[in-house]
Amino acid sequence: MNKREFLKTSLIGSLGLMSIPALGRNKINLFKIPKEFKLPELPYAYDALEPYIDKETMEIHYTKHHAGYTDKFNAALHEAGIDAENVRSILQEASKYNAAIVNNGGGFFNHRLYWKCLSPNGGGAPTGNAASLINRDFGSFEKFREEFSSAAKTLFGSGWTWLINQNGILKIVTTSNQDNPFMDTLPSEQQGFPVLCLDVWEHAYYLKYQNRRADYVEAFWNIVNWETVNNKLKKSTES
Ligand code: FE2
Repeated sequence: MNKREFLKTSLIGSLGLMSIPALGRNKINLFKIPKEFKLPELPYAYDALEPYIDKETMEIHYTKHHAGYTDKFNAALHEAGIDAENVRSILQEASKYNAAIVNNGGGFFNHRLYWKCLSPNGGGAPTGNAASLINRDFGSFEKFREEFSSAAKTLFGSGWTWLINQNGILKIVTTSNQDNPFMDTLPSEQQGFPVLCLDVWEHAYYLKYQNRRADYVEAFWNIVNWETVNNKLKKSTES
């Protein structure tokens, strides 16, 4: 073995020895993976809601914004040493948690519901229980749609428009930022069980609609998933 071969062999041997403790640490970490909230799978392709919501907006909204809230929510929980059971119970006791947990937990929950409230096969008039309850509490679907749209168009800044079940009555409310009607930190008149939501943050529409939020709100009615609204209405009476 000449000098060059000796050095080469020695270097490989040293690297081999160094890799053992490194592998050991990785194995240990595998057993310490904390419980995490997962980014839910998008129930349709990024371009499925075209032309009402464009592919690029959907992809960025889901892979950047929703994924970001999910990661930050998990990080905030880990930092506080909280092993949470479900996000809804955290929102319902928002007053007990810090701002990072509440804001990112809201972002995680709100977008998860938002994706379910949209469908390439959606739109049209509501069906089933949603239809009868909307007629009962708003007079007609047209009046409900007008009121919901107006609330979404006039909400100042970033936030959400909701249809909630508030003690058996359907009501339209708006919240700022990533607040959610489940949160106990909201005034009681804004609290309830959310059954439909619309994201009116600029990131939800700006690429396609720029400053024309009203056009985005009107487009929303072509892709509303009334099946989700009926499912949520059912759940709202069970809890
Ligand atoms: Fe959003």
